[in-house]
Amino acid sequence: MYKIVSIPGDGIGPEVVAGAVAVLEQLSKKHGFEILIEEHPFGGASYELHGEMLTQATLDACRKCDAVLLGAVGGPKWESLPHEHKPEAALLKIRKELELFANLRPAKVYDALLDASSLKADVVRGTDFLVFRELTGGIYFGQPRGFDESRGWNTMVYERYEVERIARLAFEAARKRKGKVISIDKANVLEVSQFWRNVVHELHKEFADVELSDMYVDNAAMQIVRNPKQFDVIVTSNLFGDILSDIAGMITGSLGMLPSASIGTKHALYEPIHGSAPDIAGQNKANPIATIASVAMMFEHSFNLPDIAREIEQAIEATLASGLRTADIATNAGDPVISTTEMTEAIVRHLGA
Ligand code: IPM
Ligand code: MG
Repeated sequence: MYKIVSIPGDGIGPEVVAGAVAVLEQLSKKHGFEILIEEHPFGGASYELHGEMLTQATLDACRKCDAVLLGAVGGPKWESLPHEHKPEAALLKIRKELELFANLRPAKVYDALLDASSLKADVVRGTDFLVFRELTGGIYFGQPRGFDESRGWNTMVYERYEVERIARLAFEAARKRKGKVISIDKANVLEVSQFWRNVVHELHKEFADVELSDMYVDNAAMQIVRNPKQFDVIVTSNLFGDILSDIAGMITGSLGMLPSASIGTKHALYEPIHGSAPDIAGQNKANPIATIASVAMMFEHSFNLPDIAREIEQAIEATLASGLRTADIATNAGDPVISTTEMTEAIVRHLGA
């Protein structure tokens, strides 16, 4: 039995999470395992109910389950709240509290969607890499931090164990992929990056079968756009990973398709990369594929059932190959556009009974 906490959240969150839940129910019927889904509020939805974006009850539930499935949080309604009450602060808090130190963001180009990329098809075809972004350290959390009338300051700091544990996951993942890790830093300027680089190279001695190289972050931003196929596994710090994973996601032309996993030693949270898209919320227009693909990552990383992960991915690919498109990925004029629920039903159908 798998116990999942679902956090639909705000905007299109509830619609895309409903799609993922339909897929979970179909898999449970098909394979005969039991899935228990418990819903909890988070973000704006929680603020409206309890005056807090993240309640202790939601946090406790996340600690007790096997995996968390998150839709999206935030929207214009909560943007003017003081900083500590904003959805962003709640996101950082849940990451820190659950110790989700590794954020995995795949950048994969689907052949069926080559035209949707802002880059030439020849440049992006076959792109398939995985970003390991450190998620609970670095400048996002370093002390001291603050600002006054005359200056503002943050601290980028990494402990050895923080670099080791994210680099270890990246090396292990590369072993199951093409065996190539690129560590991205700014070691030509920042001491914290020199330290990062040293620790990654020391750890590499345990992974001599994996190829390791380093790249400066500015060059990496350029290389991702110039020749994305050169990457297999990227490992990088919190802030650099935040920026690079947006570039990586965008070149695939399918932000509505990209899943993510945030993993720690004890807990894990899965969510689509796209945000809450308040402009199309409640209209049954959103693309549920990123959230459904996040469920595939859940089966792979939390339940250790990679075959089921492949099954979900194949159902998504077959659905796309059949020509079905939600509005965000309908690139050719005349493509018939289907709704969130229709896309969900098509994927469930392709999963079979
Ligand atoms: C992300 C987002 C968050 C981050 C924001 C919303 C706090 O950009 O998940 O990449 O910076 O980590
Ligand atoms: Mg970001």
